[in-house]
Amino acid sequence: MSEARIKRQYTIVARVYDPLVKLWTKVVGTEVEKELNNFLREHLDETSTILELGCGTARNLEHICSLNLKFKKYLGLDFSPQMLAVARSKFSNNSAIEFKEQDITLIDYPIEKFDIILCTWVLSHFESPSVLVNKAQALLEHGGRFFLIFFTKPKWYINFWLYPLATYLFSAVPVSEKEIRKFNNVRVRHSHASNITTCVEVYDNEAQRT
Ligand SMILES: C[S@@+](CC[C@H](N)C(=O)[O-])C[C@H]1O[C@@H](n2cnc3c(N)ncnc32)[C@H](O)[C@@H]1O
Repeated sequence: MSEARIKRQYTIVARVYDPLVKLWTKVVGTEVEKELNNFLREHLDETSTILELGCGTARNLEHICSLNLKFKKYLGLDFSPQMLAVARSKFSNNSAIEFKEQDITLIDYPIEKFDIILCTWVLSHFESPSVLVNKAQALLEHGGRFFLIFFTKPKWYINFWLYPLATYLFSAVPVSEKEIRKFNNVRVRHSHASNITTCVEVYDNEAQRT
């Protein structure tokens, strides 16, 4: 999928992204969003440092704030200036929050480490999502957690109409089973909405197997 095309699409979509995604979430995303909220409630506290890959309009940071959860620092990365402009307009004058224009496939790893990494509805834009996931996983602090939500292939009678729609409108393709199997240290995995949505939790490498 061409990065230039993806970037162009978000230039157009940025202003209407929040209402669009609200609708998408109502249709297929309620369960994964519930899981995200539970994850945030369980793992965030005032000492947490958070990295978000493909933060978009900062919807997840809004969730964190609406749940009244505390954190020490949040860094949101995205390559779309228009999506970031919406994000910044929601959170100005907060020194614990930073948004940075950055292609997340081109981060000069290793950067600093984080307690929590979030990446929601982004992986479907990449040909090899496992490369990004495993590079990011290496940025987890000891005991850190990486939470992902992404689009996966549903039953054929849903895929038949959803695939062309998602590809045309959002340049998004389902993340394949083969790619998911390459993610390092996946400890939790749930699928919802006839497998349209999947969320996984990745642990840091030193986490003990239970
Ligand atoms: C569907 S939106 C998801 C936004 C947010 N995570 C959410 O859940 O609302 C996908 C986001 O990924 C960003 N994105 C896609 N490819 C990227 C890349 N290579 N580097 C940085 N951001 C990227 C887009 O600009 C867009 O903001």
